[in-house]
Amino acid sequence: MKKIGIAIIGASHRSSALFDFTKQYGKVAFVTGLYDLIPERASCLIDHYAAKDVVIYKSMHEAIHDPRAEAIFIGTPDSQHVEPAVMALEAGKHVYCEKPMAITLEDCDKIINAAKNANSVFYLGMNLRHGPFHEKIHQIITSGQLGKVLTIEANEYYGGGRSYFRRWNRLRKFGGGLWITKSCHDFDLLNWLAGAKPKSVYASSNLSFYTKKPEGGMSCRECPIKGTCSDYYDIMKPELPLQNKLLEITEKTTGLPRDLCLFNSEKDTFDNGMALVEYENDIRATYTVSVVSGRNTRELRVQGTLGSLEGDIEEGIIKIWPRYSQEVLTVDVRDMMNSSHEGADDRIFMDFFNCCCTLSKPRSSWADGRLSLELALAATRSCDEGQLIKVN
Ligand SMILES: NC(=O)c1ccc[n+]([C@@H]2O[C@H](COP(=O)([O-])OP(=O)(O)OC[C@H]3O[C@@H](n4cnc5c(N)ncnc54)[C@H](O)[C@@H]3O)[C@@H](O)[C@H]2O)c1
Repeated sequence: MKKIGIAIIGASHRSSALFDFTKQYGKVAFVTGLYDLIPERASCLIDHYAAKDVVIYKSMHEAIHDPRAEAIFIGTPDSQHVEPAVMALEAGKHVYCEKPMAITLEDCDKIINAAKNANSVFYLGMNLRHGPFHEKIHQIITSGQLGKVLTIEANEYYGGGRSYFRRWNRLRKFGGGLWITKSCHDFDLLNWLAGAKPKSVYASSNLSFYTKKPEGGMSCRECPIKGTCSDYYDIMKPELPLQNKLLEITEKTTGLPRDLCLFNSEKDTFDNGMALVEYENDIRATYTVSVVSGRNTRELRVQGTLGSLEGDIEEGIIKIWPRYSQEVLTVDVRDMMNSSHEGADDRIFMDFFNCCCTLSKPRSSWADGRLSLELALAATRSCDEGQLIKVN
């Protein structure tokens, strides 16, 4: 496998996963440079990784046309994927685009048109498909071990409201709302596991917890009720120091406090929701998401005509109950969950660089990316209009 140079657009927290990868697999890929609207964020990542040879580009154009970069990593907020993706594909570069592909179908189609006309790889960062937990469940379903699948239940419990509601993810104009910025992952997984197109979705959601607190302030450091707030964020003791540093730089540049009040921040999305999806092959799936959670995990339950499956990604254990025996089969994938996102990140980056060398097809195609967005947009509309929405 030849070593691929990759330029990063968006010195994001997510881009740090790529730095982690290139640090460990330096023979596979190297970061050539970074472009960000806020160049200090690029410097921060370079310093953090002591990446002396990585340059800071002055423009997106310069990054994309760097001859050392055969590939471009797009790690900007979701609404900002289309411009670098199209520019990079038109320049003949391989593209790793973070999920979701975009927040509108029009932008997806611009990327798809550019990808169809390019001889390079367009790779969508649906990393969940590459984690050992979901990969194994997909193998079990497609092997026929569960028979004909009837229902799938997926739950995501995530404490990430604590981050989302102080960042761009809280506003639809940047992330499309949580059904898109968060759940496009899970809708893609459901589509993949069901192996069919979604026909319709009914969804319900609400902002139930992170609502305005008139007695609170606009930032934790100046908040009169910080002593009693369950979500107080101490900027001096951040849980994620690198993310805190990046947010501190954004705060200095834009004035947006990095400890913006999660309750009083402006937002136009929800903190808990449920969706019921019906597939063309007579599978029904439910998906529950809560970003107000003490646990960070994803659970899956699949009922088939030959057996039942249950798994919890935090535990790394999948259990199967065949219908015609008393045996309970256990699959333990913990040993394989050895990089961020439960082992998904190293695997997806390795696969991307392999695709760049072999021009082989990515596991999630642009059509898959568009379909997960179609479902996410339909779920959003279902909540907005209070009715079932046809997907195709
Ligand atoms: N696959 C996953 O598991 C996963 C996890 C987290 C985030 N993501 C995705 O990764 C992307 C980045 O998310 P994040 O939370 O790490 O972002 P972030 O908020 O940490 O960083 C975004 C960066 O993009 C920069 N930026 C904004 N607009 C730009 C533009 N037009 N040109 C150049 N730079 C620009 C900002 O200044 C900032 O530095 C998003 O698409 C997100 O949905 C994926």
